[in-house]
Amino acid sequence: MPFRYILFIANGLFLSSLLVHFQPASASTISSPQQSTAPSGRERINLNTGWRFLRVTTNPDKLIYDERPEITDRNDNVVADTKPTESATLTSSDKALKRWVLPSANDFISDPAKRHQRPAGNPGSDFPFVQKTFNDSSWEAVKLPHDWAIKGPFFTEANAVVGGGMGRLPIQGVGWYRRKLTITPADKGKSIYLDIDGAMSYAMVWLNGNLVGGWPYGYNSFRLDLTPYLKPGNDNQLAIRLDNPTNSSRWYPGGGIYRNVWLTKVDPTHVAQWGTFISSKDVSAQSATLELVVQVDNKATVGRQIELVTDVYAFDSATGRIGKKVAEFPRSTANLQAGEKRSMTRSVTLKNPRLWGLLPTQRPNLYVAVTRLFAAKKVIDTYETRFGIRSITFDPTKGLLVNSKPIRIQGVNQHHDLGALGAAFNVRAAERQLEMLRDLGCNAIRMAHNPPAPELLDLTDRMGFLVIDELFDMWERKKTPLDFHLIFADWHEPDLRAFVRRDRNHPSVIAWSFGNEVGEQYTAEEGASLAQKLRNIVHEEDPSRPATASMNYAKPDMPFPQVMDILSLNYQGEGIRDAPAYAHLKGIRTSPLYPAFQKKFPGKIIISTETASALSTRGTYLFPVTDAPSAPISDSIGGNAKLQQVSAYELYTAAFGASPDKVFASQDKHPYVAGEFVWTGWDYLGEPTPYYTARSSYSGIIDLAGFKKDRFYLYQSRWRPDYKMAHILPHWNWPNRVGQITPVHVFSAADEAELFLNGKSLGRKKKEPYTYRFRWDSVAYQPGELHVATYKNGNPWATDTVRTTDPATQLQLTADRTTIKADGSDLSFITLRVVDSKGAVVPQADNTITFSLSGPGEIVATDNGDPADLIAFPSTERKAYSGLALVIVRAKPRASGPITVIANANGLKTGRVILKAR
Ligand code: GAL
Repeated sequence: MPFRYILFIANGLFLSSLLVHFQPASASTISSPQQSTAPSGRERINLNTGWRFLRVTTNPDKLIYDERPEITDRNDNVVADTKPTESATLTSSDKALKRWVLPSANDFISDPAKRHQRPAGNPGSDFPFVQKTFNDSSWEAVKLPHDWAIKGPFFTEANAVVGGGMGRLPIQGVGWYRRKLTITPADKGKSIYLDIDGAMSYAMVWLNGNLVGGWPYGYNSFRLDLTPYLKPGNDNQLAIRLDNPTNSSRWYPGGGIYRNVWLTKVDPTHVAQWGTFISSKDVSAQSATLELVVQVDNKATVGRQIELVTDVYAFDSATGRIGKKVAEFPRSTANLQAGEKRSMTRSVTLKNPRLWGLLPTQRPNLYVAVTRLFAAKKVIDTYETRFGIRSITFDPTKGLLVNSKPIRIQGVNQHHDLGALGAAFNVRAAERQLEMLRDLGCNAIRMAHNPPAPELLDLTDRMGFLVIDELFDMWERKKTPLDFHLIFADWHEPDLRAFVRRDRNHPSVIAWSFGNEVGEQYTAEEGASLAQKLRNIVHEEDPSRPATASMNYAKPDMPFPQVMDILSLNYQGEGIRDAPAYAHLKGIRTSPLYPAFQKKFPGKIIISTETASALSTRGTYLFPVTDAPSAPISDSIGGNAKLQQVSAYELYTAAFGASPDKVFASQDKHPYVAGEFVWTGWDYLGEPTPYYTARSSYSGIIDLAGFKKDRFYLYQSRWRPDYKMAHILPHWNWPNRVGQITPVHVFSAADEAELFLNGKSLGRKKKEPYTYRFRWDSVAYQPGELHVATYKNGNPWATDTVRTTDPATQLQLTADRTTIKADGSDLSFITLRVVDSKGAVVPQADNTITFSLSGPGEIVATDNGDPADLIAFPSTERKAYSGLALVIVRAKPRASGPITVIANANGLKTGRVILKAR
């Protein structure tokens, strides 16, 4: 039933309605989309349920956004994804709808002369899928967020239509979504909008057979005005068409309406879409001046006298509760003409603000501003803006200062997919990613290379992460044949403005990135002037934050970096292919460029926005081991192309990359650099360098299933220097290596370490300057016990022990959370361990596990973190990889009671865990 979950909350008390809006905010409670109904009648209704869906790999409707070039050749930048889909090119019988879609961008085009007029006609109206009368009962019933490709199966053939670059999953083709909408008598006269947080891609929307508009870029959120096409009653037919070309991305994009969808009902005179902007200046512990801009949109056909009142309340992000009122902006009044949009600015000084900052030394305090719009003394709209008060200083010598305190950027890059769940956004899955990154000591995320789901920025605000929010991976110059460059001319301005407007109230966002390694770096003045144009657009929307684009090629004496407010270097800061182990490789080669950039731009801060590109397969060690501190992967060292494995000694990298150790040394030698964003925090789908026959990346510090690679401990030892930890690698089960050299490395923040094999010391070592691990490279393997004792400043620090295990005897299941909400969205991530009789993980165990479940739950997906595993994610049968596997479980909506998850494997004792749904 389409409308089961739509909540209409009657006009309640003012504060109680705020509580409804903000209630699900603590770490353990956020799991379902937030829904609000403000007392003024502004309603935000979640539309995630009740959809019917059809996907086709041909073009059934003969519609297309615009003509696309035919792909004939292999593209240099992408290894496998080369075959065009049947929908990829416009044929003579197809209809291009671009001219009807472009007007959807008008609110984000500043020059009125450049805004688009809708042409006459109603294309697509004759196609059955958009019509009310079409019977869609045979289509799949789906709930959003939905990623049509994630269930697979994986393409396994060599020249697949979607190759390793895009994740070997069936993203391609056309997807149609249909759903009914209800309009009640109380909605008469209201403006009614469809708000889509993200749809991949080329969205085009029909209502009751009328083409309303669309938005091609799959990563931006957008709004369409449904008002002119709605009819009273419950029979309004919404139809959304998406179209995903192959060869359109360097990674897995997902397919479908993969984020939340909302219906917003408001008085025709209302706060505009993303219509508030709060910035703070003169911030100290004693006071801060807040500036508020509110844009009001008068869609009424008559003029309107309005008054705006905005109050500021404390917001407790731990409980999600609204606290005391702390300030009130001066009121504004205006006489709006029919159809007028007007921005009003007010400021207020707040005494003793509770500043937003990073744990553990500061707290991520938040506020909420509640704007009420009055006409004839009646509240006609209420709009809530969550924000934080903080000062961010980009100091070229001291680095980043948050509220005047230096914070070293210990960041990671993150893609938008959630592993086995695909692109379909899930708050708990994203929160789990951030929790593990926090445990790592990470304090910053670069959204590589596109804006995330809005809820992810709510999480970074609440948990206290710094964010570089990023929009584009290319401009006019393509990276793949059918990527965004095709629509850049029409859409760069609307996409940029929409991106900044949506995210500019998040205190976690510290900078905007309007490009990643764009081809325009290579075009001297021409590229720089385009960069300047884009940067200006960003500053028109938000003058308070720096704008930048990441550079892996532009050099200090080129025009491109001059445009950048901050210098974002990818790889070239620490040097590319400049170490002896990389000497034989072709390609860009640079010495470390931090000094040259600093010399040329002494007034600009330098941040390494991509470092490392170190690669590994969790728990897999290949021999021999390089002596170098950093080395590229080859078939003779570090890699096994046949098994598509990269050795986890954490010394091996992409051809242009550097091991963590090499990056640390370079950063320590250039202390003015503000920090780094590692490529990447978690593994992600697609881009499986160096083995494009695989499905997912090797670059994560954490694997795709959420298991820690050894590299986790290397970063933790640097990023949490006070954390008493020591970590030995490799595992110690090498029956075929008795007597052979089997290097042992230890990661720890200690400065000395002594290693023992079966009780015998193999030597006590000191960490030499600019080295970041302890290495015993000539250990002859004997089964038994490896033990390390570490010391810091002469005092015992931490120990670790690794033992040769006995054969596997049993399966163990451990849930990250044993109580989950039965809201259809909350998840339990359950780790399976193959263990011996003493409970130790058997490190090379690859048993086939069968997962099952009893009770009111369902298995959503399984994984094991192996980039080369091409068994589809929904499969309940999965091989363990390096002793581990993951099963993701959800409770059925509104269910209660125990859910028993069971794991079986031939010859091993069954594993069980019991979850509670509530
Ligand atoms: C960078 C690029 C990233 C990713 C990475 C792979 O050059 O910006 O998106 O492709 O390399 O290591």
